[in-house]
This record gives sequence, C-alpha cells and structure tokens, in this order.
Amino acid sequence: MVIRLHLRTFLNIKQVMNQIFEALDFIENPLYEQIIEDIAKQKFTIIDNFFSEEEVVALRGSILDKYEEDAFKKAAIGNKFDEVIVRSIRGDVILWIEEARANAAESLFFNKINDLVGYLNKTCFLGILHKEFHYAIYPKSTFYKRHLDTFKNDDRRKLSFVCYLNHEDWQPENGGELVLYLDDNGKEVEKVVYPFPGRVVIFESQILEHEVKPVNTKRLSITGWLKTR
Ligand code: OGA
Ligand code: MN
Repeated sequence: MVIRLHLRTFLNIKQVMNQIFEALDFIENPLYEQIIEDIAKQKFTIIDNFFSEEEVVALRGSILDKYEEDAFKKAAIGNKFDEVIVRSIRGDVILWIEEARANAAESLFFNKINDLVGYLNKTCFLGILHKEFHYAIYPKSTFYKRHLDTFKNDDRRKLSFVCYLNHEDWQPENGGELVLYLDDNGKEVEKVVYPFPGRVVIFESQILEHEVKPVNTKRLSITGWLKTR
C-alpha cells in the first residue's frame, strides 16, 4: 500500500517537528530568567558572582597589565568636548576591548556575554546585534557625574553592563559606589551599589540615570553596552 501524504499535511508536520526541535534545543537558565525578570520589573539587575573568583583574578590581571603598558587613553564623553569639561564630569581612563584580539581572560568574558546575549535574543526578541566593552579604571578622587548612557544622536544602546574587577578585600569605605536613580511612582529613589569583585550590574541604558561616586582607592571594572541594529 502506498501512503500518500497530502502536501499541506506534510508541511504541517514539518512545522510541528521544527517547533519540537527548537524547544528541545532550548534549556531554561534560571540565572538568565532572573535577569530578564528583574530588568522587566525594575529596569536593572545586580548579579553577584556572575564571574567566578578565578575569572575575576584573570580579568584583573589583564586590566592591570594593560594599564601598566600605558594602553589606556583618557576617557572622553560624546565627541569633541573640552578636556577640562570632561574631567569635571568623569575621571576614569578606558581601554576598548577587541573581541577578535581577545586574550584568554577576555575570551572567557566574551563567552559568557555571548551566551547571555544569545539567550536574551531567543527569549526576549531584544534584537541585540552589536556589543562594545571597555576596561575602566577610576584613579583615586575621580568620579562620573550623574548621566544617561545614550548619546543624543545614537539610541542603539539598549542595555548597559558593568562588571567590577576590584580586589577581594574591597571595602565600602573605598568609595566608587554606583548610584542608580530609580523612579518609584514618580518619586526618585537612589539605589546604591557597591563595586564588589565579580558583581555585575545590568540596566536599561535609555532609562536609568546613574553616577559613580568619588573613589578613594583605584577602582577597576569592565563597562559595556548591548546594542540594537
Ligand atoms: C559608565 C558608567 C558605572 C560604573 O561607564 O558609563 O556609568 O559603575 N559606569 O562603573
Ligand atoms: Mn554610565
């Protein structure tokens, strides 16, 4: 006996099979689900130990090596600002990280980032197509005044990502707190975040104003943005 499958039936089966394979391929990740839920609810999330102690040690080694090589340039805001004005707004020095030329520590970093981005794109339709990350060092007495991470002529930055690489014994007295300015039913509230090593903060670039309080001890981090288009 010949079984003749109607073309439409065949296409329907194929569609269902595809959906099943997609579902099998997808493993729910509780950490990422928490991140998504937090950002949806409060526009930010704080994840302690997003990076393991070993990863932080490796990344801290990398940032300090490059700092000693003098590879950092003075960070600039926007495009053509006067240096004095820039210093009165932000005092960190930065170095962009190139994924194509990543060292071992940076590769570990990008593996985790890419995994997260893949998950966000699959589950949230965020359409993150680009990313950019830089090391940032805040020397003693520097800060970054209250600001928004989006430039007037560029709204592609969707999520801001900060990861702290400070030493294990980092104390709150070292300063350099990140302050997020949140909206609580029209009332502004400050969320103070200490830059403990391995801690990651992710927030909505276009919504949350924030600042870095003056630093008493050199403060180490990686900052980056997940971007659309
Ligand atoms: C920035 C920034 C916050 C932080 O680089 O734009 O706001 O905690 N960084 O380092
Ligand atoms: Mn910022």
